[in-house]
Amino acid sequence: LSDPRIAIVSATQAGSPVGWGIVGTGEMARQFSQALGQSGEARLVAVASRDPARAAASAAALGAVHGGSYADLLAKPDIDVVYVATPNHRHKADCLAAFAAGKAVLCEKPLGMNAAEAREIAAAAERAGVFCMEGMWTHFIPAVVEADRLLHSGAIGTPRTMIASFGAPVAFDPANRFFSPELGGGALLDRGCYPISLALRFFGTVEAITGSSVAAETGVDASSAAILRFAGGGLALIGTSLAAYQSNDLVLSGPAGRLTLHEPITRPTSLSLDRATAIQTGAKPAGKGVKTMLRDIVRKSRLAGLLRKLVKRTTRHVPYQGNGYVHEIREVHRCLRAGQRQSGVVPLSLSIATMDVIDTLRK
Ligand SMILES: NC(=O)c1ccc[n+]([C@@H]2O[C@H](COP(=O)([O-])OP(=O)(O)OC[C@H]3O[C@@H](n4cnc5c(N)ncnc54)[C@H](OP(=O)(O)O)[C@@H]3O)[C@@H](O)[C@H]2O)c1
Repeated sequence: LSDPRIAIVSATQAGSPVGWGIVGTGEMARQFSQALGQSGEARLVAVASRDPARAAASAAALGAVHGGSYADLLAKPDIDVVYVATPNHRHKADCLAAFAAGKAVLCEKPLGMNAAEAREIAAAAERAGVFCMEGMWTHFIPAVVEADRLLHSGAIGTPRTMIASFGAPVAFDPANRFFSPELGGGALLDRGCYPISLALRFFGTVEAITGSSVAAETGVDASSAAILRFAGGGLALIGTSLAAYQSNDLVLSGPAGRLTLHEPITRPTSLSLDRATAIQTGAKPAGKGVKTMLRDIVRKSRLAGLLRKLVKRTTRHVPYQGNGYVHEIREVHRCLRAGQRQSGVVPLSLSIATMDVIDTLRK
């Protein structure tokens, strides 16, 4: 068992709890530690901080066995997976250090500051032979999984368009990670990554990217809008903002109807399916009389009402467990038990493709 990769598989296969370490002591460290408890399959071995006093206090508050430095955490043999919950500018260095210690990694979104960093992270995980996944947890939320199932069952026909947004106002503070260019701030990196990642899941390969942004005083994008065209014929309209409260839902449309994942886009619990019947057009019969023309006029005036009758909505409540992060945690555990180095749902190629889109939009 000198090879830590063998230790990961043997620990998880034996049915014993998976050992986790959390790097960072902020808001996500707190929420994620709760989800580890909710999973019923994990043991929080250590929490790491840049500050020893904060490490000790966080370990006590979050229920970890140890609190220490980032290096202390990586030296713990009973940690199988490291959850990287530091600001974006640290993701690459924190991931690479974990890989060098033979640890699997769940890295908070986004996977680095740009596509080049995401590629470096993916290559380093590959070289080390360890599991790595971006914490794009929305993909594992049951309502999103159900939307994907409905889509593949043909519920709306071939999906053609997606309209989605993720925006909520944050009080401006140049030092905060949301607005700091050094820490990887901006609406696209913080929020736009969700609808972009989902659009890539639903539509595949992007072939054209256009967009526009409005900058905050610090230079990061405060609001951005994007249009993505996909090789398979899909089109996505995406909005994201740190300055505005947007609809925060996601609508996928096809010829037979539309699927709506209702707000909040990161962890929806409500899913609507609106079925539609295509309006039939065709050659009008020749020699239309006055009576037919009058009937046409009446019919057209009722068109809106008629369309409403043709459209049928069903809305379902699809809850998530705990605070929602438990589903991505279970995916990590499943992958480790199966000896997989990547998730099939959120592979590193999806995270890299997301960053490629964001890079283009930020140019
Ligand atoms: N999945 C989600 O729903 C979700 C939601 C929000 C954020 N996130 C992501 O999670 C990550 C962390 O976000 P957060 O909201 O938890 O941030 P946060 O509250 O600011 O916490 C970040 C932690 O990272 C550590 N850190 C290390 N170097 C730092 C530096 N130079 N400046 C500031 N902190 C530093 C700090 O812990 P020590 O000082 O103790 O080392 C700090 O507590 C980000 O990548 C973000 O994109 C994900």
